[in-house]
Amino acid sequence: MRVVVVGLGYVGSVCSACLAERGHDVVGVDTSPWKVECIRRGESPIVEKGLPELIARAAHAGKLTATTRIAEAMPGADIVLVCVGTPSAEDGSLDLSHVKRACAEVGTALKDSKQFVTVVMRSTMLPGSVLEELTPVIEQAAGGKAGRDFGVAYNPEFLREGTAVEDFFGAEYTILGAGCERAAAALQQLYAGVGGELIVTPIPTAEMLKYVNNSYHALKVAFANEFGRLCKREGVDSHEVMRLMRRDTKLNLSGAYLSPGFAFGGSCLPKDLRAVNSRARRHDLELPVLAGILESNELHVAEAVRLIERFKKRKLGFLGLSFKAGTDDLRESPILRVIGTLVGKGHDVLLHDPSLDMERVLGANRRFIEDELPYLPERLRSNLEEVLSHGDVVVIGNRSAAYRTLGPRIRAGQVVVDLVAALDRGSVTAGEYHGLAW
Ligand SMILES: NC(=O)c1ccc[n+]([C@@H]2O[C@H](COP(=O)([O-])OP(=O)(O)OC[C@H]3O[C@@H](n4cnc5c(N)ncnc54)[C@H](O)[C@@H]3O)[C@@H](O)[C@H]2O)c1
Repeated sequence: MRVVVVGLGYVGSVCSACLAERGHDVVGVDTSPWKVECIRRGESPIVEKGLPELIARAAHAGKLTATTRIAEAMPGADIVLVCVGTPSAEDGSLDLSHVKRACAEVGTALKDSKQFVTVVMRSTMLPGSVLEELTPVIEQAAGGKAGRDFGVAYNPEFLREGTAVEDFFGAEYTILGAGCERAAAALQQLYAGVGGELIVTPIPTAEMLKYVNNSYHALKVAFANEFGRLCKREGVDSHEVMRLMRRDTKLNLSGAYLSPGFAFGGSCLPKDLRAVNSRARRHDLELPVLAGILESNELHVAEAVRLIERFKKRKLGFLGLSFKAGTDDLRESPILRVIGTLVGKGHDVLLHDPSLDMERVLGANRRFIEDELPYLPERLRSNLEEVLSHGDVVVIGNRSAAYRTLGPRIRAGQVVVDLVAALDRGSVTAGEYHGLAW
């Protein structure tokens, strides 16, 4: 393919050289004459392992050239990769001005194009940037319509500086956020044979994924460093602890606990986090990530209350009271704080949980129920149907098997608030479905 790469910085120069190595004809564009001259001479404008060799080979073979003018690079292009900077503005927001300028120039050049060109953003940008902010700029400059006259796409860049070339050819996956089928096909052709699995997604998903990935990496660093600081004060070998932590690939380094759902609870996580934070305070250590976890969890509970109250219905049915399915342990179950708040505000509430037998719970934990959950005994029902028909809003609080197939039983006018992604949204055909964070 004939590829134009706009921006020859860390992302653009690696991308240009690697695509040229794959046999594409690449023209790089940068406003910096120095970077353009570097590429023309077959030299790398940045320090990056393996890049000088790739650029030299591609430039000498005539597969990679460069110019300072987008208009000059565009004739004959099949695909344009926009890799210019998206720095932070003064207030921390994302500055899209460089990308907008580049998109306007690309759009102007599209007027003279005789073929379907796909304009692909590679710079990091927040969801909505491509479709709401940049596509209109290209459309206006081109006097055409995205999807009909040209394609738009977002292809996030996951390479790490220092191992970028290796990462390009050995990526776990390449994400193709495509605005139309032709744009997806162009990207699939561009990356055929490289970049791991090619996954086509909607553009906003691809935009958000870049931030999710980077935030997670940053969170991991901060998490390990905070425990490192605590370990040092405790005289514990932090590297040994984290090495063992990483060895558990079932619960620790895995997809476990990484699906949006309800707040965590139960008899361990809240208690143990409180203990860790209390010990840190004793050392006069500030560990804001660890301290913030419980705070974040509380906000999730508050969000559930807010969502349920939004419907302004008095009769509520709660399904699932323990913090997870298959246990009757009610200690620190976060749904109980939601229920307590709404009972306190005068809602007419009925409750169900397949694992809760009131007689047994009262036998074992009478004191706890009387002190903490006085509203429970008179509101708990063993008949699911009774609770389901009572609630104008039905709230699902854990993933008990008994609740998974409730979708078709939600009646017209009834609202289901799913706190745990128990239901398939499409299965609620008569009433309304609302997820907590989806
Ligand atoms: N550096 C990384 O490892 C990395 C990784 C993933 C994503 N990203 C993202 O990719 C984007 C680019 O990052 P970078 O590190 O390559 O930036 P960079 O500053 O190294 O390069 C950007 C280049 O774009 C050029 N440029 C700016 N406006 C232009 C225009 N209108 N026309 C032509 N060229 C123009 C600049 O001269 C510069 O050479 C950013 O959004 C960044 O967040 C960077």
